[in-house]
Amino acid sequence: MADLEKIVSLAKRRGFVFPGSEIYGGLAGTWDLGPLGAELAHNIKELWWEHFVKKREDMFGLASGVLMPEKVWVASGHLEGFSDPLGEGQRFNLMFKTEIGAVQPEKKAAYLRPEIAQGMFVNFKNVLDTMRPALPFGIAQIGRAFRNEIAPRDFLFRVREFDLMEFEYFAREAEWEKYFEFWRTEMWAWIENVGIDKEKVHELEVQDGERAHYSKRTIDFEFDWPFGKKELYGLAYRGDYDLNRHMEYSGVDLRYADPVSGEKFIPHVIEPTFGLGRTILAVLLSAYREDEDRIILSLPPKIAPVKVAVFPLVSNKENLVKKAREIYENLKLPTSNFSLPVVWDNRGNIGKRYYAQDEIGTPWCVTIDYQTLEDNTITIRDRDTGKQERHKVSELGAYFIGMLFSSHNR
Ligand code: GAP
Repeated sequence: MADLEKIVSLAKRRGFVFPGSEIYGGLAGTWDLGPLGAELAHNIKELWWEHFVKKREDMFGLASGVLMPEKVWVASGHLEGFSDPLGEGQRFNLMFKTEIGAVQPEKKAAYLRPEIAQGMFVNFKNVLDTMRPALPFGIAQIGRAFRNEIAPRDFLFRVREFDLMEFEYFAREAEWEKYFEFWRTEMWAWIENVGIDKEKVHELEVQDGERAHYSKRTIDFEFDWPFGKKELYGLAYRGDYDLNRHMEYSGVDLRYADPVSGEKFIPHVIEPTFGLGRTILAVLLSAYREDEDRIILSLPPKIAPVKVAVFPLVSNKENLVKKAREIYENLKLPTSNFSLPVVWDNRGNIGKRYYAQDEIGTPWCVTIDYQTLEDNTITIRDRDTGKQERHKVSELGAYFIGMLFSSHNR
């Protein structure tokens, strides 16, 4: 496995991840995604949404606000319980506090959410009223969470603001174990889907006394990071804790009414949670390999930031460059509702261009050579095998779309 320094340096050099506010000396615990990192993150979020939301009938999407009033965090238990030890008997609350409004007495304390789950609990009734779902069902969202970590470290692993992909799955109490097991299996399916090396992931049953204040059972999915075995994802049984507390503190009835019997009750919650930064880091570590002195990032094509690179064999022959540019522009054109992320490169020699694409995980390179001018065929080079095959220019678009769809269904 690659050591962390190699990943950090590749990420910086090739535009995946930059230190936050770097020209001002950086801000600890913050990282910015560069052009390729932003694309990779977008692809992972889209894949997650497809896996857990779009494909399912029982999941409802949400995008709730980052700022929430103090009362939410009193009800959720975070004001009291979300803290780390700070020396002799002192505890430090990890939430970022701010004030809303300009002058007293309108000024009100608010907090940047330390977890995105509460947005889903406070909207539980809105989802019930608008979508009329029957149990079991879930509410899912992807969004940013903020934690004033005392010691941010290990690149994207422990930071002060990060994206979470998460859902709350509501079920009858009697069925919580069944759905806990169901989502446990689905989390493994996701780990495989996104391209994380399964061999490096291990389940850890979190013991009494070590779980979050709301959890009755938790399994951590740990990853073998270069800095040790630590949490990648979590699966928690939150019982009816959150809805009960919000019902008590808001005074709003958050019970679910059984459509047949009319019985009203608070459903129980299973919560699978997935940090995006840790996903990106685990994906990069799983994909990284070295072949002699070059680096290959074997990302699954469906999440690779660039799918296809197009080059002329040499950059100083006008007719080759013109033909290559024409093929590139055609490939870039959206086909129905699909647009292929294609890049153009005619710098340096062809070997260097291949290596530069291998390093960022581009699965396919298309080269336009002298034969192209005669018979309208090109070569496609495969990142992982290095093999080249000739194909007709007219079949290129369909070929790549076919390859991507098969990568999605794997
Ligand atoms: N709603 C439940 C919840 O927020 P958590 O275990 O506190 O649970 C969820 O956090 C996930 O967020 C973790 O499994 C991890 O992937 C990620 N995560 C937590 N703290 C993080 C940090 N400081 N930096 C980056 N990712 C973090």
